[in-house]
Amino acid sequence: MRVIGIETSCDETGVAVFDSEKGLQAHLVHSQIGLHAEFGGVVPELASRDHVRKTLPLVRGVMAEAGVLKSDIDAVAYTAGPGLVGALLVGGAIGCSLAWAWGVPSVGVHHMEGHLLAPMLEEEGPRFPFVALLVSGGHTQLVEVRAVGHYRLLGESVDDAAGEAFDKTAKLMGLPYPGGPELARLAMQGDPGRFRFPRPMTDRPGLDFSFSGLKTFALNCYRKESAGFSGAADEGSHGKLKADIARAFEDAVVDTLVIKCRRAVKDTGINTLVLAGGVSANRRLRERIKEVMEGEGGRAYYPRPEFCTDNGAMIAYAGWCRLSADQGEPLTFGARPRWPMDTLPAL
Ligand code: KG4
Ligand code: ZN
Repeated sequence: MRVIGIETSCDETGVAVFDSEKGLQAHLVHSQIGLHAEFGGVVPELASRDHVRKTLPLVRGVMAEAGVLKSDIDAVAYTAGPGLVGALLVGGAIGCSLAWAWGVPSVGVHHMEGHLLAPMLEEEGPRFPFVALLVSGGHTQLVEVRAVGHYRLLGESVDDAAGEAFDKTAKLMGLPYPGGPELARLAMQGDPGRFRFPRPMTDRPGLDFSFSGLKTFALNCYRKESAGFSGAADEGSHGKLKADIARAFEDAVVDTLVIKCRRAVKDTGINTLVLAGGVSANRRLRERIKEVMEGEGGRAYYPRPEFCTDNGAMIAYAGWCRLSADQGEPLTFGARPRWPMDTLPAL
């Protein structure tokens, strides 16, 4: 079965062709960074309009790259939620229209299920069961995964998601949008010993997270330490301060995530951990999780960095999983901006 996947839930338009026999045949992503940069964050209306402009050209592009014609496509998968409602409606309208025109089924995919299954696109993907740490701009969740659709939420953030905390902290320090990757880049030059930030909620039992306090901690630290700085003469020390704070912040987030992952692995007795979502592109997080899991005789899996952030390949793959279990849908579409993943049906 050959499936086209369309992702338009936020600020990336992603389209891919997945073939169940040959694997991923082509994928393209258009990032809206340039569009939102001057506003310091995603502007939903601009995001929707840009998806309108980019989705069909990307569909043509991936089909040309994969060397397939419309008659070769067996189904269309699109992100139905969670995400920005206008952005979701664009992908849903285009996905269902193509499916109708081509006479093939369509399926609305859960964005986080797409992230969760993305490591399966790698040559050596994880096997069920596993514990998944989903860390994106909107979600931080630990999930026990027994099979596609068998999801048990173990813990989640009670306030900011990990990616959101990265983005907000970056913004507070005047870093450009998108803040997370910028902050991670800066952290690489930072001194790990200068500041120590708290590891929130690790001193009590449970698998929930809280990251909103860390950004306040970072802001207070930044204000206090930069209070005496004035102009160009202090530029060097100012840059170093930002890098050292970025490092302390990243270490705190990574340590917190690692502590909770170890706990989840211990509680469930499942020694395979899957990292997914935008923050799983973070180098230090990938290294630490791998080190810890292998140190304890387990294994860690994560997608290649381009499939950690939003993309069409994960939507095509998750759509194929659902379609091969006959979970396509009639040609009506809707967007589900809020959609708990543990309400999805089992295969
Ligand atoms: O999965 P994703 O592309 O979109 C959502 O579904 O939210 O995740 C985007 C999030 C953003 O918050 C971004 O700052 C964060 O992932 N992110 C990173 C890195 N790359 C992306 N955070 C930390 N380190 C990175 N290298
Ligand atoms: Zn995402």
